[in-house]
Amino acid sequence: MRGVRRPPRPPIFASFADPLEGSPRVSRAVLIRLSAVASVFLLALLSLAFFWPETTHERKTNWVGAPGPTQPIAFYHRVHVNELHIPCAYCHWTAAASRYANYPPIEVCWGCHKNISITHPQIARVRQYYLAGQSVPWVRVNQQPGYVHFVHSAHVGANIACATCHGNVGSMQVVYQPIIMNMGWCITCHRQYEKKFQPYQASVDCYTCHY
Ligand code: HEC
Ligand code: HEC
Ligand code: HEC
Ligand code: HEC
Ligand code: HEC
Repeated sequence: MRGVRRPPRPPIFASFADPLEGSPRVSRAVLIRLSAVASVFLLALLSLAFFWPETTHERKTNWVGAPGPTQPIAFYHRVHVNELHIPCAYCHWTAAASRYANYPPIEVCWGCHKNISITHPQIARVRQYYLAGQSVPWVRVNQQPGYVHFVHSAHVGANIACATCHGNVGSMQVVYQPIIMNMGWCITCHRQYEKKFQPYQASVDCYTCHY
């Protein structure tokens, strides 16, 4: 067959137009086109599957690595923690006692900034939120998917330092997530606490973190 010129390719739907004319080559052409369409569809499905967890768990934030997100007020931990030595708990006091660590209400900022740096443009924003009685819409930095159960108080109560999971926040200008907090990372630590006869015991059972 090599060297023989092929006749011009018949239109795809020739086989539908006249079934008797349906040569094997025509149906092969149809097949090739169909499989091309199918693979494009499959690719679309695959990419959907890839992005699906992002949308279903509303995990809009994922600030792994610097820089972190632009916040509504340019608040710097480095200034308040490393330079002014304000303890974490002064602003995030619920971390020790409950599931979530709170963001400080604007009154906490105002308590100092009604007198400090009052002409600074960022402090003007603090005043604006305070006078309007609004809470600052801080952009979330660390967020587990909805199907993960995490409890701050259990970890803070077991004397695990904030820095073990959040890095040295006190030296950060803008907070970001330095450690990728995935399942393997959680379980690696829980394994170390699995042994008996120690004050704190963590479990690696699935329902500890998923239910
Ligand atoms: C003066 C108040 C203040 C102090 C002190 C403070 N923080 Fe914060 N922290 C904030 C505010 C406001 C935000 C939200 C804006 C931002 O992300 O910078 C925040 C955000 C964070 C976040 C990111 C939360 C998220 O969305 O995932 C972490 C983690 C954090 N702080 C840890 C710490 C640690 C650890 C310390 C002590 C070393 C500390 N903070 C001390 C006020 C404070
Ligand atoms: C064992 C790891 C671990 C420790 C220790 C830890 N955190 Fe977190 N932190 C997390 C995880 C994981 C999240 C995301 C939680 C979620 O999405 O449910 C988070 C979220 C936060 C947030 C955002 C609000 C929230 O609760 O989701 C703040 C603020 C925060 N941590 C501050 C702190 C402070 C301050 C300390 C120390 C007192 C601390 N964390 C100790 C792992 C830790
Ligand atoms: C315990 C007192 C205290 C608290 C609470 C506090 N700050 Fe500050 N803040 C300061 C001081 C002191 C400075 C440094 C002023 C300077 O260096 O001129 C500062 C600096 C700042 C600056 C930079 C302004 C400048 O002059 O460089 C911003 C922005 C700021 N703070 C925002 C906040 C926000 C937002 C909160 C609440 C989440 C907050 N602060 C809570 C004491 C505080
Ligand atoms: C650095 C070590 C460490 C890391 C990292 C860690 N854990 Fe834990 N976790 C512990 C310890 C220790 C306990 C048990 C504390 C106790 O004895 O009360 C615990 C307990 C828990 C509990 C049980 C809380 C309760 O109410 O009894 C949950 C849920 C949990 N961890 C989820 C997580 C998740 C999810 C992650 C990852 C995002 C994680 N942990 C990362 C050490 C860790
Ligand atoms: C100590 C906490 C912890 C335990 C125990 C744990 N997981 Fe997870 N799991 C997580 C975290 C955190 C994530 C989110 C992973 C991420 O963000 O990459 C996760 C994610 C998952 C996912 C989704 C994976 C993906 O890529 O979407 C599955 C499925 C899962 N876990 C199943 C299990 C099963 C089955 C077990 C028991 C054998 C288990 N987990 C035990 C913390 C835990």
